[in-house]
Amino acid sequence: MQALFSQVDLGLLKKYDTPGPRYTSYPTAPLFSTAFTAEDYKQEILDTNAADATSDLSLYFHFPFCDTLCYFCGCTMMVTRDRNRIAEYLRYLKKEIDMIAPLLGRNRKVTQIHWGGGTPTHLSPEELLDIGEYIKSKFNVDPEVEMSVEIDPRELTQKHLGTLRHVGFNRMSMGIQDFDERVQKAVNRIQPEELSLQVLKWAEALDFHSINLDLIYGLPFQTVESFEKTVRKVLHFSPERIAVFNYAHVPWMKKHQQLIHPEDLPTPEQKLDILKMTIELLASHGYEYIGMDHFAKPTDELAISQKEKTLYRNFQGYSTKSGADLYGFGMSSISHFQNVYAQNEKNLQDYYKAIDAGRLATHVGYRMTEDDHIRKYVIMRLMCDLELDLATVNERFGIDFKRYFESSLHQLQRFVDDGLVEISPDKISIIGAGRLLLRNIAMCFDAYIDTIGKTKPVFSRTV
Ligand SMILES: C[S@@+](CC[C@H](N)C(=O)[O-])C[C@H]1O[C@@H](n2cnc3c(N)ncnc32)[C@H](O)[C@@H]1O
Ligand code: SF4
Repeated sequence: MQALFSQVDLGLLKKYDTPGPRYTSYPTAPLFSTAFTAEDYKQEILDTNAADATSDLSLYFHFPFCDTLCYFCGCTMMVTRDRNRIAEYLRYLKKEIDMIAPLLGRNRKVTQIHWGGGTPTHLSPEELLDIGEYIKSKFNVDPEVEMSVEIDPRELTQKHLGTLRHVGFNRMSMGIQDFDERVQKAVNRIQPEELSLQVLKWAEALDFHSINLDLIYGLPFQTVESFEKTVRKVLHFSPERIAVFNYAHVPWMKKHQQLIHPEDLPTPEQKLDILKMTIELLASHGYEYIGMDHFAKPTDELAISQKEKTLYRNFQGYSTKSGADLYGFGMSSISHFQNVYAQNEKNLQDYYKAIDAGRLATHVGYRMTEDDHIRKYVIMRLMCDLELDLATVNERFGIDFKRYFESSLHQLQRFVDDGLVEISPDKISIIGAGRLLLRNIAMCFDAYIDTIGKTKPVFSRTV
């Protein structure tokens, strides 16, 4: 793999730098609309549970609160130190659970639970225990359930972590971003290394596995040299997984990102140099590039699942649990099963208002067409397997791939000409540095890419 990436032609990558979706869903979120209502969502839940009451469930819970604001943050979050606000949110979350859980077949097993944010660990250990036990009491949770949680080490105590483990959490993802003090100051996230190390030691003692650490490249004052130091420190921690996110600078959507001065940001060329260094360094330490910012040790199930072509992509990124219906709880959370996507109110008061009125808190949603399903499959397989078997698509959907995707193949030709994609009679393969352009390659198969983002910017840049 290292050889592949040592050929990375930075000029070539720059040519493809354009705004584009991250394809955690297809169609992407800007397509979701208020034409899909809470009643539609409720009916879909009822229909799905009547027709197919046995498939597994994956549950997502959103905890929007944080202790302090990281200026780069692109997540749906709000800063609060008012414990009453957190307690209030948990009351509403329970009410939402009470509305939805009875609609789901009791024999449907929950095989995956994810708590994201914001910062789930901004809850107190008592609150973590209370809501964790509540969730487990309301669903049929599989004893082998994969439970993961996003951790911010800055205000985490050993008691938080012990409580999470007691509730059943067995995986965690921890935000690090960058160890450089100047960078930390510029983004208002002061996080000494010792703190992260301490949390990792606790996690190890508590037998958390598949620990993931998040880094971001493209932050103010980062240089190849400074970021190399951060990556080396992370390598020293030896986590199973490392995410190296491309900083999504979208100040028109996230106003607080205006606190980051554009003149302090690395140039696109510097960012590419940082990325190249990072990939080479991680590869030389045995990490495999999964795709889309994610790296894993070859022994981690993410890497194994990729080799077995059973990897899957959802709103939390790459996952090994395919086929489970996703139900989201909490403000802004997204559900996806069968033909539908449904997203909850993104504004806290609107979320509360819906629940007070006894309604599900759906704000927008989308009903997929057959064409959406075909394209979702193609994009998913390309992003997870880095190749696509055309006969499988033909067989699965009863189409003639080359005819159906004539215009996509035409758009893909420039990737072929640049040595980033290979098209053979039966297969499309993403090769070499093409693996860093998964978003761009997926865009060739996106039927809506020319219609969304035209009137106002919605996507971050791809490189
Ligand atoms: C919800 S946060 C993780 C948990 C916790 N709040 C924390 O920050 O430690 C998820 C991750 O998203 C990433 N992230 C946040 N804003 C981003 C942005 N604008 N661009 C790229 N990645 C971002 C960070 O790496 C962060 O760790
Ligand atoms: S990066 Fe994490 S801790 Fe920082 S503001 Fe965003 S969600 Fe909160």
